[in-house]
Amino acid sequence: MGKYIFAILGFSLWVGGLLAQEPISPLPLKPTYNPALAALGQRLFFDPILSKDKTVSCASCHDPAKGGADGRERSEGVGKVLGGMNAPSVFNAGFNFSQFWNGRAASLEEQALGPIQNPVEMNLALSEMIRRLEGEPSYQEAFVQTFNPGPLTPQKVALALAEFERALVTSNSRFDRYLRKEIALSEKEQKGYRLFKGLGCVSCHNGRLVGGNSYQKIGVVNPYPWFQGQADLYALTQKESDKNRFKVPSLRMSADTAPYFSSGEIGTLEAAIAAMGYYNLGVTLDQDQIENLVAFIKSLKGETPAILEAQ
Ligand code: HEC
Ligand code: HEC
Repeated sequence: MGKYIFAILGFSLWVGGLLAQEPISPLPLKPTYNPALAALGQRLFFDPILSKDKTVSCASCHDPAKGGADGRERSEGVGKVLGGMNAPSVFNAGFNFSQFWNGRAASLEEQALGPIQNPVEMNLALSEMIRRLEGEPSYQEAFVQTFNPGPLTPQKVALALAEFERALVTSNSRFDRYLRKEIALSEKEQKGYRLFKGLGCVSCHNGRLVGGNSYQKIGVVNPYPWFQGQADLYALTQKESDKNRFKVPSLRMSADTAPYFSSGEIGTLEAAIAAMGYYNLGVTLDQDQIENLVAFIKSLKGETPAILEAQ
């Protein structure tokens, strides 16, 4: 009999332990990356030489001072051409389970050469990119030092850019410090976190990115307008059920990345939260709830990555 009681007690403690586990986990305090490779990637990331008319760099649309995004509804590429989608933050992108709003690139390496060739972004042929980089002795030297002697290839450019992005981790946010039991949250942040869990936001926005690990629809409860030409899963699969289905964005930097949603059509964090409540959970949030959720989302923002401090 005693044996059973202990078994049941043990089992309940185990379940209790699982339940007590937080649905959000902290970002690593120190990102792991190869410093020489990341430094080369950093130079490339900020260099407009990678665009056709030498006016646009990766940082034009992923500006560290703008939360790793560009503050625009839709991005502006070379020749001031508008793209179709809102630029997501590059901060913490290395932890996304796939890249782009519809996950069409599996890794940062696979993603990196896309914007360089994209006609509405940097519009540069890879052969021309290589010619330009080979024409700069300091790049020649940096590539040889980083990769050993050998031809300068697009793949090496992709590896360097991806390594720099892996260094862009915003560690040590107030929320992470709370998770590590170093500080207490303010009352508003606490209320916001409780709402975030209680309302069900956390069913889609969870893990260390508070998103970035599943594909979900916008318009689960109340239908959300769909338009042709957006980068949803439908663009890849042509399946009706994939319309308005996106990789759930990370909320880690959302405090700084207005406007919101893949369309960029929502101007403020307050409005994005209200829209999420209405379209995805079927609730009309009041002003107080929205303010608390804003405070919680702001607590997710971490520190400037060390690699940028050194700049
Ligand atoms: C003209 C603006 C623009 C430029 C220049 C640009 N990007 Fe982007 N970036 C975007 C947009 C818009 C998206 C989302 C596109 C989509 O999902 O279809 C994006 C998506 C990304 C993503 C995926 C993030 C995520 O959460 O899925 C990464 C990583 C990224 N860009 C890195 C880069 C790198 C590296 C460069 C330079 C080689 C670059 N970008 C140049 C606008 C730009
Ligand atoms: C059913 C899954 C799901 C639920 C539940 C959900 N979200 Fe979202 N959330 C998404 C998806 C998908 C997007 C991207 C929509 C788009 O880009 O069109 C998103 C986008 C957002 C954005 C904008 C981020 C950006 O960078 O553009 C915020 C902020 C947000 N959600 C907060 C919340 C809050 C707060 C709740 C709870 C009230 C919530 N979400 C509930 C799936 C969900």
